[in-house]
Amino acid sequence: MQSQFDFLIHNVQIASMAANSEAYGEIKDACVAIKNGNIEFIGNQHDFDGEVDTYVDGEGQWLLPGFVDCHTHIVYGGDRANEFEMRLNGVSYQTIAQQGGGIKSTVKATREASFESLLASASSRAQALLDEGVMTLEIKSGYGLDLQNEIKMLEVAKQIAKDLPVNVSTTYLGAHALPLEYKDDADGYIDFVCDTVLPKIYELKLADSVDVFCETIGFNTAQCERVFKSAKQFGLNIKAHVEQLSDLKGAKLAASYNAISVDHIEYLEPEDAFALKQSNTVAVLLPGAFYFLKETQKPPVNALRQNSIPMAVATDLNPGSSPIASILTCANMACVLFDLTPEEALKGITINAASALGLNDRGQIQTGMRADLCLWNIAHPAQLIYAVNQHKPVKKWFGGKLV
Ligand code: NIG
Ligand code: FE
Repeated sequence: MQSQFDFLIHNVQIASMAANSEAYGEIKDACVAIKNGNIEFIGNQHDFDGEVDTYVDGEGQWLLPGFVDCHTHIVYGGDRANEFEMRLNGVSYQTIAQQGGGIKSTVKATREASFESLLASASSRAQALLDEGVMTLEIKSGYGLDLQNEIKMLEVAKQIAKDLPVNVSTTYLGAHALPLEYKDDADGYIDFVCDTVLPKIYELKLADSVDVFCETIGFNTAQCERVFKSAKQFGLNIKAHVEQLSDLKGAKLAASYNAISVDHIEYLEPEDAFALKQSNTVAVLLPGAFYFLKETQKPPVNALRQNSIPMAVATDLNPGSSPIASILTCANMACVLFDLTPEEALKGITINAASALGLNDRGQIQTGMRADLCLWNIAHPAQLIYAVNQHKPVKKWFGGKLV
């Protein structure tokens, strides 16, 4: 006779991250039963009496959902260590960008790089994230900018999901910087993004979302709005880099187009946090970029809390503003630099990060969810956020498969 469940993980403490009356959605002396890659039972182990093929003894350790890194730029050529040196010799990130460095220098290196070399470097960055328990990863384009190289980047991102035990959500970030071939013609470049690249990327099914860099060194709100309109026509999710270095009111604009997330938001006015509420937009905090650029303006976390705006935390892993391949380090930074609680930070890399990608089948341990699970040898979930670079999962199940 066929068993009701494929396997049971028992003798665990669970931080389900789902809303129950306990911090971290905690369930003590718990078990989870998995069938066909999904969670079919979660609860106290004394309440379980199903038929099971295989038992896994969790030895009293903590079971958490696999992490979601909802904002990365891991596909790129070259690096920007020289610009790091320039910045520490007094040249600002904005000045470097205005002088043709910054994102543009990574565009040059990425255009010159082969598919294979981009795949090799991006895979090793992805592997570092996976080693810490990331099981869903967002990857943006935006360092190719022309049709051929944006497609190349997104194909690399898709290949990572075929090669490694991770789900990848891809984002077309055409409006990231102005490529040389459109010098002094930002509007012409936005025409190209909306009329040429976006339709092709849609046709090839290469992106789940569309993103923009709404900033004085990026694109203005009118230009971003044109990208949002096109994204909407194709039914793609909208995400936006906004209010990172100045307040252009990009978050309000993105929310008016029902963006699934607005990211960075250090310069978001507290009064504008309310705008994110009606659209269910997630606020994605990127403390790695804040730290690495030595920024001082913090995001309006209290206003986000008061308006019950879900907060996610991501690495923003990229060569210019956040070369940090560690989701737990970024979660720690969200606490130390932005005053999140450890529980908020953990929600930020699980349930709220899933929402920032429009995914409602992961990021928490609940019946019906994907069995993306990590077992941790810790005494309490806060330890994961507190101790930097000291914890790796002792066991991982990706879609119910031990990896
Ligand atoms: O999220 N803000 C725009 N994009 C990236 C930085 C890209 C770069 O400097 O290469 C970010 O910070
Ligand atoms: Fe980014």
